[in-house]
Amino acid sequence: MLVCLCHPTTDRDVDSCIQSGARSVEAIGAMCGAGTGCGSCRDELRERLDRAGFGGEPDDPQGAATPRGCAGGLVALRSPPA
Ligand code: FES
Repeated sequence: MLVCLCHPTTDRDVDSCIQSGARSVEAIGAMCGAGTGCGSCRDELRERLDRAGFGGEPDDPQGAATPRGCAGGLVALRSPPA
C-alpha cells in the first residue's frame, strides 16, 4: 500500500526504515523521503512507529526533514527514470 504520494513510499518501505533504525517521522523522511513533502502522510508514519513500539517522539516541524513539495514526487511517479 502506498503511504506517501509525494515521495512514493509503501508501508513496507516505511516498516523497513523502522527496522533499520528510524525512530521518528524525521528519521523515516531522512531515509526514504516519506513525510517530507506536503506532510499529509506524517500521521500514518507516526502510527507505524507506534505499532512498532517506537511511538511517543514528538513531531518536530523544524527537524532534519526538509519539505521538498509534492510536485517533485508526483512527477517522479509519472516519469520513468532517465
Ligand atoms: S503524501 Fe507524504 S509528504 Fe505528501
